[in-house]
Amino acid sequence: MDTDEPRFDVPGMLINGEWIPTGENGRSEVRAPYDGSLVAQVPAAGPRDVDHAVRAAADALRRDDFPRADRVRVLEQTAAALNDRRDHFARAIALEAAKPLKTARVEAARAVETFAFAAAEARRFTGEVVAMDATPPGAGKTGFTLRVPVGVVAAISPFNFPLNLVAHKVAPAIAAGCPVVLKPASQTPVSAILLAELLDGLGVPSGWINVVTGGGGTVGDALATHDDVAYVTFTGSAEVGWGMAAKAARKKVRLELGSNSPLIVDSPSDWRTAASKAAVAGFAHAGQSCISTQRIYLHHDIADDFLEEMLPRVEDLRLGDPLDEHTDVSCLITRDDTARVKEWVQEAVTAGAKLLTGGEAAQNGVFRPTVLEGPPPNTRVQCEEVFGPVVTVTRYDEFDEALHLADDSRYGLQAGVFTSDLGKALKAARSLHFGGVLINEVPTVRADQQPYGGVRDSGNTREGPAYAIQEMTEPRLITLQP
Ligand code: SIN
Repeated sequence: MDTDEPRFDVPGMLINGEWIPTGENGRSEVRAPYDGSLVAQVPAAGPRDVDHAVRAAADALRRDDFPRADRVRVLEQTAAALNDRRDHFARAIALEAAKPLKTARVEAARAVETFAFAAAEARRFTGEVVAMDATPPGAGKTGFTLRVPVGVVAAISPFNFPLNLVAHKVAPAIAAGCPVVLKPASQTPVSAILLAELLDGLGVPSGWINVVTGGGGTVGDALATHDDVAYVTFTGSAEVGWGMAAKAARKKVRLELGSNSPLIVDSPSDWRTAASKAAVAGFAHAGQSCISTQRIYLHHDIADDFLEEMLPRVEDLRLGDPLDEHTDVSCLITRDDTARVKEWVQEAVTAGAKLLTGGEAAQNGVFRPTVLEGPPPNTRVQCEEVFGPVVTVTRYDEFDEALHLADDSRYGLQAGVFTSDLGKALKAARSLHFGGVLINEVPTVRADQQPYGGVRDSGNTREGPAYAIQEMTEPRLITLQP
């Protein structure tokens, strides 16, 4: 194929029910991270486009012309249509995000679930009856709450799950009755545009789904701080997310941010399963997941056996083109990220870590899956989020010490613990300050209906359709005095 022929012909940005081919700043190219081929040309939006889209959304909210039954229908039909087009979406994800095709297929299938759960929740969410008569001022009154939409939702999504993390913002917003202005990551807008085309084709009234593309931080900031936006849902880095929350101080800003997820493998435990899972969980999508297994703490008694089981599996991972059916690990999103990961690994080795495997770049920005033993706690591979295919290993003697090391982080998204001791499992569940503690599982697993989100620098929200719908609606108290 001629590399200058876009692989996807996308109609542009969707604003107020119209497809707009060119943004305020013209058009920008989306190039495949692996080989630089042209994936699509998309509009490069600017603050005026953002204003246009937010006003359209605010008008839609005032018109109130998308009743709940229609929203349920659209969500259900979207789940079905996504299911029919899973391969098409998986190819878009693989190309624009360099996510290996087999992993991209999993993401597309997960997006079907996300819409299906949002549809189910949209059918049933309600307010509650309030016992007004329990105190003298309420005597004789009947009270209940309605759950009403918070208003216009600004959804800012990251590159690493270009479809399913868009689904986690758009589907609950539709369910809740909130018009959305979506700004997908500049590197990966194609899956989001394809999804918006699908929604548009299913008869979503104009203004309820708007997509602005390109423009990076300027567009994101213009969107998050717009006066008519009530709610910002952002997934991305901690620095950008908390900065945005400070700029949009009077809005509900809900952040799903990074982590350096720990995995404790104790003794006795099913360490063999832990090792085979960790060999995948540290390197899926080249470690570019907020819950990638990053810091592994191994009890001394099982550490050698664990590594003997894990390392050959890591070395067997197939590196290469994301479109190759056999590829397990492809390139990082930019060449700068490949260089950054290399620098962090070298820093750890210089500080005394032992390189057990990997440690260098391969072809086309692919970084070899890397395992480091014993990096000091202050090295970046240990205390920051690597967002690359790097796992660290630290040995310990006492379970309490492992809990302390795992918990000693500015992040707190998900933690995994392998143990055969129920008492230790419960202790870990109580004492680890994370959004999720997964017993006998790696921290990298997420089911789309679960509450997903973190504490500390990892964020301030829980996604998952039922939880996001709660956040995107607010209770309005109604009292009736006969
Ligand atoms: C994320 O990177 O936060 C999303 C992880 C997932 O949905 O599996």
